[in-house]
Amino acid sequence: MIDDQQPATDDIDVSGCWRASAAGKIILCGEHAVVYGRPAIALPIASVRAHVLIERAARGQGITVHAPDLGRSWALHARPRDTLSRLVPEVLAALDAPPRPDLRISISSDIPIASGMGSGAAIATALVRALAASCARDLSNRQVSELVFANERRLHRTPSGIDNTVIAFERAIWYQRVPVGALPAVDYAPPSIEPLVIAAPLTLLIGDTGVRSATKLPVGMVRKRWQADTASYEALFDAVGSAAHVVRAALAAGNPAALGPLLDQNHALLQQIGVSSPQLDTLVAAARAAGALGAKLSGAGWGGVMLALVTPAARTHVAGALRAAGAARVFAATVASTVPPNSP
Ligand code: PMV
Repeated sequence: MIDDQQPATDDIDVSGCWRASAAGKIILCGEHAVVYGRPAIALPIASVRAHVLIERAARGQGITVHAPDLGRSWALHARPRDTLSRLVPEVLAALDAPPRPDLRISISSDIPIASGMGSGAAIATALVRALAASCARDLSNRQVSELVFANERRLHRTPSGIDNTVIAFERAIWYQRVPVGALPAVDYAPPSIEPLVIAAPLTLLIGDTGVRSATKLPVGMVRKRWQADTASYEALFDAVGSAAHVVRAALAAGNPAALGPLLDQNHALLQQIGVSSPQLDTLVAAARAAGALGAKLSGAGWGGVMLALVTPAARTHVAGALRAAGAARVFAATVASTVPPNSP
C-alpha cells in the first residue's frame, strides 16, 4: 500500500494568491496492458511541471482561466463543456466552497501537450491543489488523485488511472487494476498501488517526436482490436504484464543493465499492439544505435515521447543522436533510488 503523505510541492501564498505545481510522468513499462488489468510502472518526472496560480478577482468577475501555453483564455460560464470548466466546480463542491467565487486561474506548463508525459493530469492536479489551498483545505494525495481521475475519464473515456496516481503521489509506483468478473464484461475494483523499490539510480533520456497524439485515439483503437480479437490481445497484454514483473525485480535488485532488453521487448510488444509510429521507431532505433541500454515508446503512442535508458557516460552522446534523428526536444531525467518500505 502506498502512503498518503503529500509531496512538498505545494506553495500556499498568504497574500491572496495560491500556487501549486505537479510533475510530469513517464510510463517505464506496461502502458495499454494496464487498462486491461496488467501491472505497469510509472515514474514522476519532477523537472517538468505544470503550474497553477489562483488570484482573487474583482467582485462579479466569476472564474476566468488563462492558459497561454494552451493558447486559451476563457470565462468558465462561457465554455461550460470544457473539461477544466467542469473540473473547477466539481472540486469546489468537493471542498464545500461557495459555488461561484471570483477567481482568476493562470495555468502554465513545461510538459509537452498530448505527448504521453501526463500534461492533462498534471494541470488538473495542480489546479485541484491550488483550489484546495484557496479554500484553506488540505486534500490527501488519494483525494487529489480521485478528483483528477474523474477529469481523466472525461478526457480519455477508459483511463486506467495510472497517470493521476503517479502525478498526485509524485513517486515511483507499481500500479495494477484489480479485475472483477470474467471477460468480456470485466470490471475493475480500486487499483493496487505500491511504492516501487529502486535500488540504484536510473539515467533516462526522453525524446519527444513533436507529434501530438490525443491518448483517447490509440486507446480507442486498441479497444476495438481487443474486442475483435480478444485472445491475441489478451496474450499480448499477458506478455507485457509478465515483463513488468521482471522489470520490477531488476529495479529492486539495482540492476539497470538487465532493464535494457526488457524495455526493448516492451517496445516490440507495443509495436504489435499497434501503437508505435515511424517517428517513435526512428528515435528508439537511434537511441539504441548510439549505445542506449534499451529504449521504448512511452505513453499511449502514435506520437509523443519515447524513453531511453542510458549509462551516465553515454547520456550526452545518446541525446545528440536523438536530436540528430529528429527529436523535437530531449529531456534528461535521473530517477533517484528509493528506500524499501519499512526500512529504517
Ligand atoms: O496519457 P498517456 O499517453 O501517458 O497514456 C496513458 C497510458 C495508457 O496505458 C495508454 C492509457 C491508460 O489510461 O493507462
